[in-house]
Amino acid sequence: MYRTHNCGQLNISNVGQKTTLSGWVQRSRDLGGMTFIDLRDRYGITQLTFNMETNAELCEKARELGREFVIKISGNVVERSNKNKNIPTGEIEIIVENLEVLNASKTPPFTIEEHTDGGEELRMKYRYLDLRRNVVKENIIFRHKLSIEIRNYLNNLDFLEIETPILIKSTPEGARDFIVPSRMNPGQFYALPQSPQTFKQLLMVSGFDKYFQIVRCFRDEDLRADRQPEFTQIDCEMSFVEQEDILQTFEGMTKHLFKKVKNIELKDFPRMPYSEAMRLYGSDKPDIRFGMCFKDVTEVVKGKDFKIFDDAQSILGIVAPQSATYTRKQVDQLTDFVRRPQVGASGMVYIRYNEDGSLKSSVDKFYSEDDLKKIAEKMEAQPGDLMLLLSGDTEKTQKALCELRLEMGNRLELRPADKFAPLWVVDFPLLEWDEETERFYAKHHPFTAPKAEDFELMKTNPGEVRANAYDLVINGSEIGGGSIRISDKDLQNDNFELLGFTAEEAHQQFGFLLDAFEYGAPPHGGIAFGFDRLCAVMSGVESIRDFIAFPKNNHGRDVMIDAPSAVAQEQLDELNINTKEITE
Ligand code: AMO
Repeated sequence: MYRTHNCGQLNISNVGQKTTLSGWVQRSRDLGGMTFIDLRDRYGITQLTFNMETNAELCEKARELGREFVIKISGNVVERSNKNKNIPTGEIEIIVENLEVLNASKTPPFTIEEHTDGGEELRMKYRYLDLRRNVVKENIIFRHKLSIEIRNYLNNLDFLEIETPILIKSTPEGARDFIVPSRMNPGQFYALPQSPQTFKQLLMVSGFDKYFQIVRCFRDEDLRADRQPEFTQIDCEMSFVEQEDILQTFEGMTKHLFKKVKNIELKDFPRMPYSEAMRLYGSDKPDIRFGMCFKDVTEVVKGKDFKIFDDAQSILGIVAPQSATYTRKQVDQLTDFVRRPQVGASGMVYIRYNEDGSLKSSVDKFYSEDDLKKIAEKMEAQPGDLMLLLSGDTEKTQKALCELRLEMGNRLELRPADKFAPLWVVDFPLLEWDEETERFYAKHHPFTAPKAEDFELMKTNPGEVRANAYDLVINGSEIGGGSIRISDKDLQNDNFELLGFTAEEAHQQFGFLLDAFEYGAPPHGGIAFGFDRLCAVMSGVESIRDFIAFPKNNHGRDVMIDAPSAVAQEQLDELNINTKEITE
C-alpha cells in the first residue's frame, strides 16, 4: 500500500498512530543529529524526521534524497515541539521507520515553491512542474470547483449537457477560424468551432429546451492576457424565453457560484444600456467598482479661443478625487500615458481645484478663474480634486478617457481585487458600420434579434437599431454575452439583407440553420460565459493563463510540446497540401 493518509491530513488527533505516506521531497534540512524533510502531495505538506542517534542508516539514506524525489515512508505520528501554526499538519511530525525511494528526480529547473525563481518561459516549458506549485495548483482546483457548481446549478434547473462537434463548418462569430484539412475530401477543410452557436440553436429546434455545455472554442485572433486561441465557454441556450428569463437565470448562476465557491453574497446586478455605458465610461464593459464617470464639458469650454477645444467634436473629463496635490511630474506621467499609441490621445488638459478654492489649469492663458469655476461646477468637482480633460473625435476621446479613468482608478487604489461589481450591459446596437468596407457587420452575430420597438428602424436607420443582446461584465471584464435569436424567417432575411448577404450567400453559409427554422423553430435565446475569464475575475487575477492547465503563450505556441510544428511530407501529401505553394 502506498499510503494510509495524504500529506495534508494528519493532525494532533492522529498522534500515536502509525502512518504510511507517499509524495515528493519538497525540501530537506540536515541539522547534524536530525534530518527534516517536507513531504508534499496535492493535499499539503507533512514534516518527516530522521534521527541519527536512533537510526543512523535511515538518516544517511534520507540525507541523500534530492529535491522532488518521489518516496514512500512509514512511521509514527508524534506531536511537534516546534509547532507551525500556518499549516494544518503543523502540530505533528512523523518519526520515520521505513523509507523507500519510488523514483529519483533531476534537480528541477526552478524552485517548486510559492515564490519561484523561474521566469514565465521556463515555467511554461516545464508546465508539469509549475503545476506542482501551490498557487498554480490552487487555481486549477478552483476551476474544478467552479465547473462542478455550474453543473449543479444548471442540472437543478433541468438543463441538459449536450456535446456538439469540434470538426465543423465555419461559425459566424467574427474572428478567424482554425481550419483542418480533410484527407477523405481532398481540397476541403473543416473549421474548429469559434462557439457552438449554430448547433445550440439547432438543439432548440430539436426540442431540448434548456441546453448547456462547458466547451472548448477556438479563435485565431491576436492574444492578450484575457484571450487564448483555445478557451472554454459555459455555453447555454433556452427555448420559450425572453431576455428577462435569460438574465434572471444567469444572474442566478453567477450569484450561486460566488456564494458556493467564494462565500460572497452578490446583490442584484444593475443594468445599463450600451449608450449609457459609452456616455459615462467610454466602454461597453465598464468597471463600476468606482465612480469617476465622464463629464461632458463640450458646451462650457468652447468659444475661448483655445483652438484644440474649439475644433474638437467632444471635450470630456473625469474628476480624480483628492488629487489636486498631484505634482507636475505626476501630471506629466499621465500626459505621457494618454499619448501612448494604445491610448491614442494627443494631449491632456488638467485643472487643479485647490483646497483653498482657487483653480489652476494647464490652459490658464485661455481660461480665467471664473471660466474654470464654471467647468468645475459642470464637472461637480470639489476643492481638493483634480480634473482631467481630453478632446477630439467623440469615439476616440471616449476610448482614451476610458483608459485614463482605469489608470487613475489603479493609482488611487479604487479597484481592489476582492471587490466584485457585476452588471448587465443591455441594448447593444444590432449592427456595426465598417468604414473600410463600407458595410454593416453584425455586432454580436447574424442571428441576434432586433428589439421589437426598433423593427421599423431597420428600413429607415439601421445603424440605430438596438439588439436584444446583453453582456455580463464584472470588474471591467466581459465575462459573458448572448442574445435572443431571430426565429422568424422574414426578419432573418431582412437582417441578412442589411448585412449585405444575398439570399444565395446566406443559404450557402447558413442553409442548414435556415432549413431547420422551416420546421418549427421555438422562440429562443442564450448566452455564453468565458469560463477562463470567470475563473480569473473571481480570483482577482488578470491573466486567464493561470487557470488553464496547459495554456499557449502570446504567440499561440505551446512551448512545452513545441506546437505548432512542421509535419512529415508524407502527412502533407496524404492531405493534398502542397507546402511548396504555401511557402512560395
Ligand atoms: P462571445 O463571442 O461574446 O459570444 O463569447 C462569449 C464569451 O467568451 C469569452 N471569450 C474568450 N475568452 C478567452 N479567450 C478568447 N479568445 C475569447 N473570446 C471570447 C468572453 C465572451 O464574453 N455564441 C456567442 C454567445 C451567444 O450568443 O450565446 C459567443 O460566442 O468572456
